[in-house]
Amino acid sequence: MRKPILAGNWKMYKKVGEAIKLISELKIKVQDVKDREIIVCPAYTVLNKVKEIIKDSNIKIGAQDVYWEEKGAFTGEISPDMLKDIGCDYVIIGHSERRHYFGETDDTVNRKLKAAFNSGLLPIVCVGETLREREQNLTFKVIEKQVHDGLKGLEDALIPKLIIAYEPVWAIGTGKTATPEEAQEVHKFIRDFLKRMYGEGSSNVIRILYGGSVKPENISQLMSQEDIDGGLVGGASLDAESFSKIVKY
Ligand code: PGA
Repeated sequence: MRKPILAGNWKMYKKVGEAIKLISELKIKVQDVKDREIIVCPAYTVLNKVKEIIKDSNIKIGAQDVYWEEKGAFTGEISPDMLKDIGCDYVIIGHSERRHYFGETDDTVNRKLKAAFNSGLLPIVCVGETLREREQNLTFKVIEKQVHDGLKGLEDALIPKLIIAYEPVWAIGTGKTATPEEAQEVHKFIRDFLKRMYGEGSSNVIRILYGGSVKPENISQLMSQEDIDGGLVGGASLDAESFSKIVKY
C-alpha cells in the first residue's frame, strides 16, 4: 500500500506572521491524522520558523526549489545541504512555474534531483502538459520526455523514494481540475512507464501526486483513483481549514 501524501505548496505567499498563524492552526487541525503524510512547502524566508513550530508534530517540511551545487559563488541560490541543515525533508523540483518563468528544463530538473538525493532530501518532481500540448494530443509524449529526461542516470536504488507530481499546467491556479478519470489516465501512463524503466517493484511504490486546483470538494474523488497517491495543493493550502479538509479527505 502506498501511503497518501498531501503536500501544500505555499508559493510566494505568507510573510512571517501569516506563516506562523497558518502553520499553528494547521498543526492543531491535523494532529490526529496518522495514516497520511502531511507536507508543507513554505517560502525560504519562513522555512526555519515553520520548522520550529511543527517540531514533534505529524507535519513535515519541504522547500519549493533548490540549486544543484553544494556551495560556492552562486548569488541568490540555496543548496540541498542548507535545506537539510534547517531540517527540510522534501523539496519540490521542476514546478511548472519554475519551468515557465525561470527557464527550468528537464536537464536542470535532473541535476537538482540528483543533488537533492545526495543530501538526503526527498524530491517531489513535477511534470505536466500545457493546454496547447493537450489539445494537440501531445500529453503522453510530453510527460514521457519529462519523466525520462528528468530521471536520467538516477541510481536504481533511489527510484522507490521518488515522488512525482502530475500537474497539468492548464489546471494550476485556474480552478479547472482534471477530471479524476483524466488524471488517472496520465498517472497510469507514468506508472506504466516507470515499470518499463525500473521494474514493477519500484513502480508499485513510487507515489504519484495530482496537482492543479485540488480543493476539499474534489480531493476524495481524485484519491479514489487507483494510481493517484496524493495531492500537491497550491491555493487551497493557504488556509488551514481548507488544507486540513483536504488532508482528511
Ligand atoms: P493550485 O496549485 O492548487 O493553486 O492549482 C497547484 C500547484 O501549483 O502545485
